Amino acid sequence: MKTQKSAIAVKGVEKVYHSGKQSYQVLKGIDLNVDRGALQLLMGPSGSGKTTLLTILAGLMTPTAGSVFLLGHEITKMSASELTKFRRDNIGFIFQGFNLFPALTASENVQVALNIKGIRGKKASNQAKMLLESVGLGGKVDLLPRDLSGGQKQRVAIARALADNPSLIMADEPTAALDSHSGQKVIELLHELAKERGATVLIVTHDPRIINFADRIVYLEDGEISDLKNSGFQEIGSK
Ligand SMILES: Nc1ncnc2c1ncn2[C@@H]1O[C@H](COP(=O)(O)OP(=O)(O)O)[C@@H](O)[C@H]1O
Ligand SMILES: [Mg+2]
Repeated sequence: MKTQKSAIAVKGVEKVYHSGKQSYQVLKGIDLNVDRGALQLLMGPSGSGKTTLLTILAGLMTPTAGSVFLLGHEITKMSASELTKFRRDNIGFIFQGFNLFPALTASENVQVALNIKGIRGKKASNQAKMLLESVGLGGKVDLLPRDLSGGQKQRVAIARALADNPSLIMADEPTAALDSHSGQKVIELLHELAKERGATVLIVTHDPRIINFADRIVYLEDGEISDLKNSGFQEIGSK
């Protein structure tokens, strides 16, 4: 069955935001599948609900309606504690704008994530060093975020998301704040993750450079998803 084979399977997801007496339906019945080991992009105009959808897929927000299956498990049926455990065991999330702890070094930022996964002490500091080396920051482990460039901060955020080798990586506009060289490095890193570690990577992006690395691109507009292959992007984009 499709939901078994897909790393991420979404059925009929809706999201309505309420503010005062107003309500606003951002997602109007999203159906979406991401194959295991794929690098898939989620694109669409600003305000179309990409962050909302990604946050729901990561189990960080509850949809108004619909189901989300991750690795064959329906997270929309889990209790809060089951969901916390599932997220911890399976998902690495890269937030828009890094979200690093300003008072902690690069290494400590990664160690916090390892601690949450039950890896502590010397083992955690060794693994943090290895993870930072794998994103090209071996020489920067003891620096604070304020002493790192934007691209380096984003790579710390990626190293943190990689803690304990999650099978699902979700990233919200990971290259938006970066110059072209740093952005390219981050893209290559995410691509390597999908291909070498066999992780499933879902990226929200406007960055045309990532398109070349994508196995599949879906487009969110007016609360609905259209599914495009790489070749269809230009035609739909210019509609
Ligand atoms: N917590 C919230 N409460 C009310 N409206 C929200 C909330 N978060 C986002 N929105 C609105 O939902 C729409 C989609 O937002 P978002 O998911 O951030 O879009 P995108 O990431 O595609 O730019 C926007 O119009 C935004 O203003
Ligand atoms: Mg967004």
